[in-house]
Amino acid sequence: MSKIKIILDTDPGNDDLLAIIMALKSELIDIRGMTIVGGNASLENTTNNALSLLTYMNRVEVPVYIGDPSALNESSTSPEEFDEFKSHRIEIHGETGLHVSLPSPSIEPRKIHAVDFIISEAEANKGELILVPIGPLTNIAMAIKKEPNIKDWVKRIHLMGGAVNVPGNVTEHAEFNIYCDPVAANEVMSSGIGIKLCGLDITRNTSVKREETDWLHGNSPGEKVIRQLLDTVFKKIPDRNYFSLHDPITVLSVLHPELIEWELFDVSVICNGPESGKTLGTVNAGGSVAVGVNIDQDLAKIKIAEILSN
Ligand code: BDR
Ligand code: CA
Repeated sequence: MSKIKIILDTDPGNDDLLAIIMALKSELIDIRGMTIVGGNASLENTTNNALSLLTYMNRVEVPVYIGDPSALNESSTSPEEFDEFKSHRIEIHGETGLHVSLPSPSIEPRKIHAVDFIISEAEANKGELILVPIGPLTNIAMAIKKEPNIKDWVKRIHLMGGAVNVPGNVTEHAEFNIYCDPVAANEVMSSGIGIKLCGLDITRNTSVKREETDWLHGNSPGEKVIRQLLDTVFKKIPDRNYFSLHDPITVLSVLHPELIEWELFDVSVICNGPESGKTLGTVNAGGSVAVGVNIDQDLAKIKIAEILSN
């Protein structure tokens, strides 16, 4: 059976780390490359985290491409807004994006820009490539803008972002990835590309609880580093009793879409004002965005643990 070709567009990020290890471990996934975006930490940190993780996992053949810092950065916002945003992300992901230390990278990012890699891979694998963005949608929107034909070339996008029927997690209205670059998110949602949207509707409550210390019990390098990470998160954030599997569910949705109940919507994003980053969904049987509205949480967690234990 041929493998599923994906590009993982990521901003590692604690839960990104789990998702990346899943993609590396799944026998059904052919990870063509990782494209990096700023979000959970600066672009420099997220790039470093990706390279360090591949070094740790002994998967240095997977190419890494640097992309965009994402719209929400020091130069695009007021100092107050940026400070507030930064303290939110530091609380969740720490200063550098990860609550676990990894070895220094033994590899360098490739010279090509992430956006150009996305375009050339899509062209070379017409009808086969699935984009899996699990961070702000800046790189994906830039790729669509630079090469509109990409809409016909990619097979689908499975993305982590948004909160269609539930409240946000950065503000009352907005989910983090969409909040970071609402304009990009709006462009991607309205591109007409078939999207499977894994938003907070299905990801927030699918979580590892503080007391579930035996969720992963194997001794592979991936399982060990994840156990260490969960342990640190629960120690550092004493009032947090769960760790949401946002990004891992998005990778899972590529492998096991049947665990999720999907409903077709038209989705747009509010791009400014107090509701900036809010995802607005209207049910439409002819819509291009399949929103995950329900998930078999227990089975999803079992499957994720299974893949991580490979
Ligand atoms: C999303 O935001 C990030 O903090 C996580 O990595 C995930 O992609 C959840 O809102
Ligand atoms: Ca992420």
